[in-house]
Amino acid sequence: MNYPQPEFRPVSYSRVTLTELMIPSYANFGGKIHGGILLSLMDKVAYAAASKHAGNYCVTVSVDGVNFLQPVEVGELVSLLASVNYVGRTSLLVGIKVIAEDVRSGSVKHTNTSYFTMVAKDESGQPTQVPGLNLETLEDTRRFLEAIKRREFKERYRAEFDNAVSSLAVPHQLHLLERERCQIVY
Ligand SMILES: CC(C)(COP(=O)(O)OP(=O)(O)OC[C@H]1O[C@@H](n2cnc3c(N)ncnc32)[C@H](O)[C@@H]1OP(=O)(O)O)[C@@H](O)C(=O)NCCC(=O)NCCS
Repeated sequence: MNYPQPEFRPVSYSRVTLTELMIPSYANFGGKIHGGILLSLMDKVAYAAASKHAGNYCVTVSVDGVNFLQPVEVGELVSLLASVNYVGRTSLLVGIKVIAEDVRSGSVKHTNTSYFTMVAKDESGQPTQVPGLNLETLEDTRRFLEAIKRREFKERYRAEFDNAVSSLAVPHQLHLLERERCQIVY
């Protein structure tokens, strides 16, 4: 059954925070938390924010800006703060800020900020329109505008990259390998 949705929803309606304790089974052999654990939590919180705004199930379409700049340790409390930054017709861009807190010292580190593009689906699995976004603060407006720029740059980059790759003539590009740590052995 498809439930009726409002024309617009405010950013605050779907803002969510997910907090999870980093337990030993999340750690890799070096004692740090697996990147995949954090990615899974990010996907979960992106889904929560997107589906709340959409009032429908959502799927993850693409992920941008995932850089793990600082390791997360066992015992730390990780919080993922998510909000819908931008909506298209059926897609939503969810911004996620990840912070990790050492509960003993109280110190907090910002581990990364990433952007998940989600698409709302109806009961038959087709992309479906999402409510527009009511921008309640200057920061909401800045994020919406930033998302437009992000989308423009991504499309331009994708077109340029596809063009560069499709015209890649290997024999003429071998000089690029001279300073790389590889050798041709065929
Ligand atoms: C994403 C998906 C819905 C697109 O379907 P489609 O028939 O091409 O639909 P459309 O072309 O109408 O695109 C739907 C929306 O997705 C957006 N979109 C499609 N591909 C995209 C991409 N690579 N990056 C960002 N947005 C994308 C479109 O811009 C459009 O947004 P809009 O309605 O706000 O303008 C479809 O490919 C799909 O269901 N993929 C599987 C997603 C999934 O299951 N993820 C879980 C992980 S396995």
